[in-house]
Amino acid sequence: MKKNIWDAEKYSKHADFVPKLAFPLIDLIRELKGKKVLDLGCGDGTLTVELIKQGADVVGVDLSPQMVKASRSKGIKALVASATDLPFYEEFDVVFSNAVLHWVQEAEKALQNIAKSMKRGGIFVAEFGGKGNIQSIVEAMEQVFKENPEFGQFKNVWYFPDLQEYKQLLEKTGFKVEYIELIPRPTPIEDIENWLEIFTNVYTSHLSTQQERKFRNQVKEKLKKTIYSPQNGWTADYVRLRLRAVKV
Ligand code: BEZ
Repeated sequence: MKKNIWDAEKYSKHADFVPKLAFPLIDLIRELKGKKVLDLGCGDGTLTVELIKQGADVVGVDLSPQMVKASRSKGIKALVASATDLPFYEEFDVVFSNAVLHWVQEAEKALQNIAKSMKRGGIFVAEFGGKGNIQSIVEAMEQVFKENPEFGQFKNVWYFPDLQEYKQLLEKTGFKVEYIELIPRPTPIEDIENWLEIFTNVYTSHLSTQQERKFRNQVKEKLKKTIYSPQNGWTADYVRLRLRAVKV
């Protein structure tokens, strides 16, 4: 049987750098005490717990039932929901989202849903992959698909917008942008194989286990030439789009 798209245990073991690097984003909210907060894409709840510790009343949502289960096991109010179909209406003072919105191709629909979920004057704080994010990895994956026609057609499902494009979308969907920045953030990762196993399931779920192994090995070989050095190990070429906006 094929594994789940999201493996909460593997994520918490090998991708713990994701929540650890998000503290500057929490600081962008400024005031959390007593605020009603939606953690959009709460994952296993690691960051949600931080928001709760700072005095916020938090609801987490995630598309993955496995992740929602992991959040609930930490005592978090969490439910399965999509960013493009949020079951809330003018409920939240703050919407917080880390490392999620690059999975949502329907960006405008997601922003409409976020705006609808927030009170007027509420704060939206988010960070996700922006233009150029993990370009070396995407290019290596694309090449491996080309070299193995039996894998099918490579279709990039990630959305890494540039700053102007996203600022305009925010304004169109009822936000005033207070801050937006594209930040190159080369990120050390422990092991590219684990990274590929956690984050590229969506591209390989139709392949056999043997083909998946071949895919990861060939991507790794290509990446040794671009994002690996014997001195520093693996460094992924992350670029973050970070923002704070107010619902007008
Ligand atoms: C990220 O930018 O956080 C990311 C993007 C795609 C896959 C995994 C991580």
